[in-house]
Amino acid sequence: MLVGPVFAVLLCASLCGAETQIFRNAGFESPLGPENWSCSGCTGLQYGDDKVEGDYSMLAQGRQDDWAGPSYLLAYGTDVISGQTYDFQIYVKLLSGGSNQHEIKAVLSVTFSDGDKVYQQITSPTFIGQDDGWFKLTARATAQAYSKQVTEMRVYVAGPAAGVDVLVDRASLTESSIASLIHRGEILENPSFETALDSWQCSACTGVHYTADQHTGSAAMLARDRTAVSAGPFQDLYWGSSVRGGQCYLFNAYLKVLGSDTTTYYYTKAAIGLFFDDGSSKHLTIAKAFISGADGWKKMEGDVCMDSYTQAVDRVKLYISGPPAGVNFLTDDVFLHEVSATPYSSWRTEADARIEQLRKRNVKIRVNTPNVDHMEVQVVQTKAHFPFGSKVNVDKRGVPGFPANSKYREYFFDNFNWGVIGNKMKWTAVEKFEGIHDWSQADPAIDMMESRGVPIRGHCLSWASDNHVPNWLRQDPSNVEQKLFSRIDNAVSRYRGRVAHWDVNNEMLHGNFFVRESGSRQIRYDMFSRVKENDPNVVPFLNDFQIINTGASTQVSGTDVLLHYSLGTILPFLLRIVA
Ligand SMILES: *[C@@H]1O[C@H](CO)[C@@H](O)[C@H](O)[C@H]1NC(C)=O
Repeated sequence: MLVGPVFAVLLCASLCGAETQIFRNAGFESPLGPENWSCSGCTGLQYGDDKVEGDYSMLAQGRQDDWAGPSYLLAYGTDVISGQTYDFQIYVKLLSGGSNQHEIKAVLSVTFSDGDKVYQQITSPTFIGQDDGWFKLTARATAQAYSKQVTEMRVYVAGPAAGVDVLVDRASLTESSIASLIHRGEILENPSFETALDSWQCSACTGVHYTADQHTGSAAMLARDRTAVSAGPFQDLYWGSSVRGGQCYLFNAYLKVLGSDTTTYYYTKAAIGLFFDDGSSKHLTIAKAFISGADGWKKMEGDVCMDSYTQAVDRVKLYISGPPAGVNFLTDDVFLHEVSATPYSSWRTEADARIEQLRKRNVKIRVNTPNVDHMEVQVVQTKAHFPFGSKVNVDKRGVPGFPANSKYREYFFDNFNWGVIGNKMKWTAVEKFEGIHDWSQADPAIDMMESRGVPIRGHCLSWASDNHVPNWLRQDPSNVEQKLFSRIDNAVSRYRGRVAHWDVNNEMLHGNFFVRESGSRQIRYDMFSRVKENDPNVVPFLNDFQIINTGASTQVSGTDVLLHYSLGTILPFLLRIVA
């Protein structure tokens, strides 16, 4: 979705900056052993015949059960500290198991001094087959505090059926760079609904401490007898202490819609409601999700910044609402944390200081001219080197946009030196009928940008969510790969050497049309290769939203982040940590 002006920020392939590796022997290059990697319920070997990098990977052989796999002993309190958030990754490959899809997961096991043991899966459900080759498994998790003494903590990779040999390589465990920006400490009381619902209430509904189903732990909150769309769980917050003006907050929660209807998608949202003493109120949406009964537990997440209001705030609350009256839903594992590194109000001063330091240089100008008494030298900047782009809306029938609307056009050229055409290069716009390619609306805009020396990001070759593929393809997804490739061939070869970047499979972290219809995850790699075959010099991009605060990362040439201005506030310092 492209809403309002959008600009792109180039990211490092993973979050930049030096991060300290917590794992010893993270690349499996030195002999394995109890001080670093061993095999639980299996035999672990250094393996030289197949690896992601270096000379070795680790092979887990003779796995006795689906829980068996490579494991690493973590020193709780030293390697990982409670309240701190960590990023985990490991590359995994199945050496047997044929075409069957096997679950792979990373699990944290914690043993206590009284002998109790708990297991926590830290990765989302992931399935791979032998044909998938190396697969990168990632997780972000916050280390918990426990009420009992921890005697052993292990992280291990498990999942496939007993007997399936597993290779792992390039493991990594680092303190999350986002973590340093987040206040330690949950703002909400009873965020996992483990104890009675004293701090949570249900607005226009009945709230139930529900133990029959939960995302994690032993309970969730059920909102039933909902009498309005706005009905749902809420918790009172404290203005000035638990939430403050001029600060930003990260949020997530898991929701599950109950009932027999599994096909309707319900719009759900979480918001902070501010009620002022003059009787007015303000509702700031912090996260949205479309959830159907078929989704099971689904995560919603987002962020919001508070202004420093001039009116006195009487009451402030966090609430979750959405499905129509009568639809019951569960809520669990809510997270609301203040982002503390840079107060929202001071980001501009800091950004200006960085501009002074990073983008300005002293210039010496030597003028060779004979005997002049007085001379004035004027230096005029005609172009900025720093790439700064915008989406443009092109002309629609009868409505002049870009390039016909001269005010709009000149505003664009005065302010931006890269351009993205909002809709008219999309597959749905160009190929309304299969095999008939109509570029007549995009061409004039592209010609104009080209004539003014503005490089173009092509947007987008395909779009991974169902409602953004051409109708004819959705109705008949047979031979989807061939249809997709002919779209890529048509678009990329047409603008070879003219379009510098292409967004390839738009928002593919949020949709899976092509993977699902082709039955192959490989298709996503193949799309990128196909782009390069058509134009070896074009830079293919992954274009997505909500990737900074969710920690999703990518291995393609470039990533950019959509900023949906109309959907919320920008968190400039979140951009900073990845920019
Ligand atoms: C891993 O542990 C083994 C034995 O426990 C040891 O020989 C090896 O040097 C360790 N490697 C690293 C990098 O710590």
